[in-house]
Amino acid sequence: MKTTLTEKKYIRRLANGAIAFFGETPETQKFMERLLNRASFVDSPQDMRRALKLKASEWDRYMTVFFAKLGRVTEFGQTNYSECVEPPPPPDGATEAPEVTELKAVVAAKEAALETLREELKEGKKSGPVEVHVKLDDGKKTHAGKVKMAHVTMPELLARCAAGVNTYMVGPAGSGKTTAAEQVADALRLDFGFMSVGPQTTKTDIMGYMDANGRYVSTEFRRRYEEGGVFLFDEMDAGNGGVLTCVNAALAGKWCSFPDKMVKRNPKFICLGAGNTYGNGPDRIYVGRQELDGASLNRFDFLDWTYDEGLEMEIAKTLWEEKVQEATEWTTFVQRVRKAIDTLGMRHIVSPRQSFDGIKLLKQGVKKESVIQTQLWKNLKTAEVNRINEAMAKNIGLAVNN
Ligand SMILES: Nc1ncnc2c1ncn2[C@@H]1O[C@H](COP(=O)(O)OP(=O)(O)OP(=O)(O)O)[C@@H](O)[C@H]1O
Ligand SMILES: [Mg+2]
Repeated sequence: MKTTLTEKKYIRRLANGAIAFFGETPETQKFMERLLNRASFVDSPQDMRRALKLKASEWDRYMTVFFAKLGRVTEFGQTNYSECVEPPPPPDGATEAPEVTELKAVVAAKEAALETLREELKEGKKSGPVEVHVKLDDGKKTHAGKVKMAHVTMPELLARCAAGVNTYMVGPAGSGKTTAAEQVADALRLDFGFMSVGPQTTKTDIMGYMDANGRYVSTEFRRRYEEGGVFLFDEMDAGNGGVLTCVNAALAGKWCSFPDKMVKRNPKFICLGAGNTYGNGPDRIYVGRQELDGASLNRFDFLDWTYDEGLEMEIAKTLWEEKVQEATEWTTFVQRVRKAIDTLGMRHIVSPRQSFDGIKLLKQGVKKESVIQTQLWKNLKTAEVNRINEAMAKNIGLAVNN
């Protein structure tokens, strides 16, 4: 192989950097000479590692940082030498080139960022899946139960249920609001009823109606109100703002007027709501949401239901018990993408559903690249994907395979 001038410059830079980075030992000196005499390290990068007597992990760290610094150079052996810029010559008598000092600072900063991330993950895990115990006294007997794999906010929700306070969970898509309502019902061994509210939902859907023969046609809401149980107005902020006003009386007092008769509220009736917004109308991500009636909102306590990443990780592991390592890696990746999107303020949702559905696909043998494309990037433009990748690289200091 013929060594070109630019290639020589590159080799010199690499060798200088290596020596300054790892110290001026006889090995590194020898190696520099070898490099400058056209050693065949380009064909075999491992030669360089062995010559420098570096462990694989040290070598990887050095290479990652060195190449990140060189920019444009993506992978060892695929170097575009002409893009490498000659570094400033080391000052006389200096043992460390300024660029290497700079490199070390970069490494230190990235390592600090990585440590922060590790801490955050640890904390997330701590606040994750706890077993929550609850008691509900309906005047006659006490219902006791527990929720396994509970969201970090579950104790707050249960406290409100036990106190008979209607609660509206507000949180991003896939944060586990619907599941939480079901878990409350399960834990208390109560029936669960729910209605997915939408633009077409009418007062009749909620309250029922009298048919042509004068018979009352009931609804799930009526049954739970009368017989007891947990009822969830799911996607509450997707409905027509005025429709829920029909249940205002039911939620405030002990009686409700249904089309056939007045009905007394069962002491075991628990009413929950869930939505992506606070009911103040659409926001920049949830554009189809409605403004809800103030009097309806006033009857609910608001509980923020954000992503519980510790819980997400635990659920992910249960989905792929045979390959916990893969499940963990995938979920960590999804969480990093989410963090980058958040940092960039992009309008794109990457929820725990992407962790769970991604694992289901990976388990079926679908290629990771394809899962990333269909679950995470979806309809994003290439430029947006690149921005996310860059933000991720900044966050923890390493580039991402996509
Ligand atoms: N505690 C949990 N245990 C097991 N799986 C859970 C739990 N919480 C959420 N999930 C799973 O996470 C996914 C999203 O949960 P869920 O549908 O409850 O979210 P959501 O907040 O209601 O979302 P959306 O706003 O889109 O309706 C589902 O696949 C659900 O099965
Ligand atoms: Mg839901």
